[in-house]
Amino acid sequence: NLPEAVCLYEVGPRDGLQNEARPVPAEVKVELVDRLAAAGFRSIEVTSFVHPKWIPQLADADEVMRRIERRPGVVYSALVPNERGLERALQAGVGGVNVFLSASETHNRKNINKSISDTYPVLAPVISGAKAAGLPVRGYVSTAFGCPYEGRVAVDQVVGIACRLLELGVDELSIGDTIGVAVPTQVMAVVSALAREVPLHRVALHFHDTYGTALANIVAGMTAGVRRFDASAGGLGGCPYAPGATGNVATEDVVYLLHRMGVSTGVDEAALAETTRWLEQALGKALASHASAVRRGQ
Ligand code: HMG
Ligand code: MG
Repeated sequence: NLPEAVCLYEVGPRDGLQNEARPVPAEVKVELVDRLAAAGFRSIEVTSFVHPKWIPQLADADEVMRRIERRPGVVYSALVPNERGLERALQAGVGGVNVFLSASETHNRKNINKSISDTYPVLAPVISGAKAAGLPVRGYVSTAFGCPYEGRVAVDQVVGIACRLLELGVDELSIGDTIGVAVPTQVMAVVSALAREVPLHRVALHFHDTYGTALANIVAGMTAGVRRFDASAGGLGGCPYAPGATGNVATEDVVYLLHRMGVSTGVDEAALAETTRWLEQALGKALASHASAVRRGQ
């Protein structure tokens, strides 16, 4: 029961770059977003309007969001933690608002400095403010497959938070394997538990690839009925408040897998390969994707 097509949500400019140690110039970030849009992505997470001290790499969010090209049909979203972030994001012309919290208390505290229950009253006005501005809202549930501090995370906890976010008005959920520990059987269990409570067309899966299981997890998610997947150009990424986590699943590898399985994505493989080659040079380092390794070996 494979679908004919799935939607890919490109998170490289945000999740990918937020973890880069060396400063990346705003013009590189802007060019990355523009190249990704030209390669066919219709959802791109451009940056993050969090506190600049918490994520120094994305302190130029306002500038980057203002300078990107706006292609019709592309949603240029950003991570927004609170009303201060929403104000900044709206001023910069954000096209979609992405809120986030964790399914485990300790990661939530380390990442956004409050308990899970104290997070909802912070997110509620962000969600309603974004909706009032006519913007789509995505809600991330992080550490849904495991927490770097607490280990196992209960499926019921993930489903409960997902339902709460939908009640607050988010349009789409992204269920995150923040530290890249999930395996396909677990993905099937989480997706089938979610499917009992929420419409699966509102669910995306967000895999990091610490143990190399992310592609298998995408196939498991797709087989279980999910049609939306996050990926990051070159496999960059990680959460600075999740020790041990590595990058997101690499977009190029996901596109390779899906296209050869007969599942279309709307992404132009050649343009994506050219973008990753350019990004490798712009960052001055080898990227983690399988596709990059193949290119280096040629
Ligand atoms: P806090 O210190 O508790 O904030 O941080 P506060 O509300 O107490 O405010 C303190 C000061 O910060 C105030 O200034 C605010 O105005 C200012 P003062 O009045 O003292 O002068 N401030 C801001 N300034 C600019 N922009 C803002 C902002 N907010 C407050 N938005 C906060 C709480 C949430 C802000 C902080 O903890 C934070 O920014 N955390 C972000 C952490 C982060 O970005 N982590 C990575 C993203 S999550 C992720 O990667 C996972 C994901 O990929 C999915 C997955 O993989 O599972 C999404
Ligand atoms: Mg992530």
